Amino acid sequence: MNQRVGIEALSVAVPRRYLALEDLARARTVDPAKFTVGLGLREMAVAGPGEDTVTLAATAGERLLSAYGIELSRIGMLVVGTETGVDHSKAVASYVQGLLGLPKSMRTFDTQHACYGGTAALMAASDWIGSGHADGRAALVICSDIARYGIGTPGEPTQGGGAVAMLVSDRPELLALDRGVSGVYSTDIHDFWRPIGQREARVDGHYSIDCYLDAVAGAYRMWLERATRAGLVPANGLASDALARIAYHVPFCKMARKAHAQLRRVELEGQPGHPASVDEAASVVEERAAAASFEAQVAPSLLVPSRVGNTYTASLYFALASLLHADANALAGKRIGLFSYGSGCTSEFFSGVVGDHASAAIERAGIRDVLEQRQRIDVAQYERIMTMPPDTQPMNELRGPFAFRGFEDQRRRYRRLAAV
Ligand code: COA
Repeated sequence: MNQRVGIEALSVAVPRRYLALEDLARARTVDPAKFTVGLGLREMAVAGPGEDTVTLAATAGERLLSAYGIELSRIGMLVVGTETGVDHSKAVASYVQGLLGLPKSMRTFDTQHACYGGTAALMAASDWIGSGHADGRAALVICSDIARYGIGTPGEPTQGGGAVAMLVSDRPELLALDRGVSGVYSTDIHDFWRPIGQREARVDGHYSIDCYLDAVAGAYRMWLERATRAGLVPANGLASDALARIAYHVPFCKMARKAHAQLRRVELEGQPGHPASVDEAASVVEERAAAASFEAQVAPSLLVPSRVGNTYTASLYFALASLLHADANALAGKRIGLFSYGSGCTSEFFSGVVGDHASAAIERAGIRDVLEQRQRIDVAQYERIMTMPPDTQPMNELRGPFAFRGFEDQRRRYRRLAAV
């Protein structure tokens, strides 16, 4: 608990193309407001030929190393959180290690549990550093995924893709984690899954929303109890008021609004003068949660996710990136909460304190430029990409920095095309 451990640097990568959700709605003869207001989404990243989980992860990693001037010899661990890896055995992390030229004297591995895999990676890295085994070195944690539900499915507007790279170290310029104060909640359910050999996920969408809300309640209750014991939140009043912002896993942005209302209900459970159960408290808190706290505490974290779509493991960390990009100045020295959910399911509510110089640090990630450099495509182009066979190679596009270049002798090959 005493050693400061957390996120020192952060960078993002997104596919080169995106589709505006209004265009998709019109093509599906759906009221655009259903996607933009009902689901809270503006744009959806579309991964094209040559782009996969490896190239997105390597791009985010390379950007981090160059933008923050990180010496490769500092890195002793590389963990990639993903649920859309490219091989049943060979880790995405090993491809990334090769593409980035990382040292050989390091651990590399992937972590998987649906969208929670990135948080599993972050926690493994944080524990490694906190244990002292890192011996002063840092871990590169990368969350990378491409979310596919398929053309014409209810999940279609909630696709996306991207990667977030984080340097985890004992110099947490961006976010010092409150180690040992997590709340966790897991249960064996089928809300979302992807059978072996299938590119498109199966999802019981409305049920998955209920499962997510149960998980928020379970994980937050445990965090509340531990955070109160650790003195991180006041014994009286609403604990979430002690959190300047909260970033949630966002399979679609409206989910964060639902999650936040649930969290506020949970903390009213034990308050004097309020009904004892979540259900009875619901009507009391809905208005208050929606009006008073969502816009201030959560909305800034949704600016980037609403333009990228679902990124599975990376989704919570795009929300964190968005929050820091929008608000780091105001958040210096303040505690924020984070909720990670992986279908199936497991979840974790944790917290951390934003660094005093986080504003300058996050500027280096160049998030605005990364989004602005993308190309808008129309629905016909999107559908052409979606119906291409797996592992289609780029024809004429030699834009980088990394691209999948096909198989040689049954081995996946990647090429470095240009500097980031
Ligand atoms: N204007 C504004 N809002 C509208 C609208 C309109 N014209 N039409 C519908 N809406 C609202 C609905 O009221 C609903 O909001 P609410 O949930 O707050 O009530 C929202 O838009 C979605 O409408 P709904 O009818 O529920 O959509 P759907 O049945 O087509 O599917 C999902 C929505 C999210 C269930 C579906 O996209 C999905 O399964 N996505 C994948 C989810 C996922 O990834 N889960 C696993 C990880 S947690």
